[in-house]
Amino acid sequence: MTALERVGNHVTPESAIALDDRYLAHNYAPLPVVAADAEGAWITDVTGRRYLDCLAAYSAVNFGHRNPEIMATAHAQLDRLTLVSRAFHADRLGPFAQALAELCDKDMVLPMNTGAEAVESGIKVARKWSADVKGVPANRANIVVAHNNFHGRTTTIISFSDDETARRGFGPYTPGFRSVPFGDHRAVADAIDAHTAAVLIEPIQGEAGIIVPPADFLPRVREICTRSRVLLIADEIQSGLARTGRTFACEHWDVVPDIYLLGKALGGGVVPLSAVVADRDVLGVLHPGEHGSTFGGNPLAAAIGITVVNMLRRGEFQRRSTELGAHLHARLMDLVRQGVRAVRGLGLWAGVDIDPALGTGRQFGLALAERGVLVKDTHGSTLRFAPPLVVTAGELDWAVDQFADALAEVRR
Ligand SMILES: Cc1ncc(COP(=O)(O)O)c(C=O)c1O
Repeated sequence: MTALERVGNHVTPESAIALDDRYLAHNYAPLPVVAADAEGAWITDVTGRRYLDCLAAYSAVNFGHRNPEIMATAHAQLDRLTLVSRAFHADRLGPFAQALAELCDKDMVLPMNTGAEAVESGIKVARKWSADVKGVPANRANIVVAHNNFHGRTTTIISFSDDETARRGFGPYTPGFRSVPFGDHRAVADAIDAHTAAVLIEPIQGEAGIIVPPADFLPRVREICTRSRVLLIADEIQSGLARTGRTFACEHWDVVPDIYLLGKALGGGVVPLSAVVADRDVLGVLHPGEHGSTFGGNPLAAAIGITVVNMLRRGEFQRRSTELGAHLHARLMDLVRQGVRAVRGLGLWAGVDIDPALGTGRQFGLALAERGVLVKDTHGSTLRFAPPLVVTAGELDWAVDQFADALAEVRR
């Protein structure tokens, strides 16, 4: 059905939004755009209007909407086998685990579905490792995390968030976490004691506003973890898989974590697929019955995951992100002192702080949507530009022009 036929069926933005308001829990405040279809970097709404997607589903759509290679795999697998659970073996899972382990240069993979599940699983693995291998007494393990982290929405994960909106009303919280300032390696060292199992960190903090740490932070944390026999867990769920111009953001600092947490783009923008990836001395602590997921590593997700890993192996998305990211950052930097206060990020991932006197990030998100550009605000007056990596330089120029116009309009 085409977008116009849908309008014929009386699906208007207003009717769709009214239906959502009536029947969906109000845990999101979406922009008033009702997507009907999408291709590459573009989303079409129910009226047939096209928008340049500069969010890419928080990096889940790194390879573009309905990427042809991924769609071909998905269609072929849909016609063969979709789900058996882990009660049986299935022929796509082993090849997926091998491909992903090799991409990460690690021994083993624990497949899950959502990013939050990968984080939860990483926490469980680190705690179990600390008990079984490091000898931390039962129920005494702690994990060091960073201020302003975002690792998901489960009860344990929000327990170590410092976003009051995410936490308030959801206690009691899971104990065993210590939060230190992001970027402060001395604070990490000070927080570690004999019972520390892991340091859990986003190499670049995404939801916090695309915060890139000081150059020596991750290398120092790596040294500290190695010296203290503590696992370094890199949450690369948003920063990884080519978003910053490298397969993993940690590569920018030549840092290899003990555990990679991956998600979002791993599922090709089609299915939820996440993973914990580590060496045998770490992931080997899990035994039958100790962890699992009915859908984790299902044949459809595994088949898609193989294609995603193969695409990443070619390096073209990493190259695009580096080249186009340089272009995007240069164009955005031109707006500094014209309503923009700061631009941060790496690759095709930019956090833009707008002068709060000009309006909130939400207001600019709305103004840009009216101009055909979809971005997401965060923390009051920050906008994120994270388009699918198939976007072109011309499309980026057009998006930045729209942003410049929106800024100029409120400055007049
Ligand atoms: C760094 C990071 N970790 C974990 C998550 C949670 O992923 P999910 O929403 O798939 O549970 C996110 C989501 O934005 C994220 O950015």
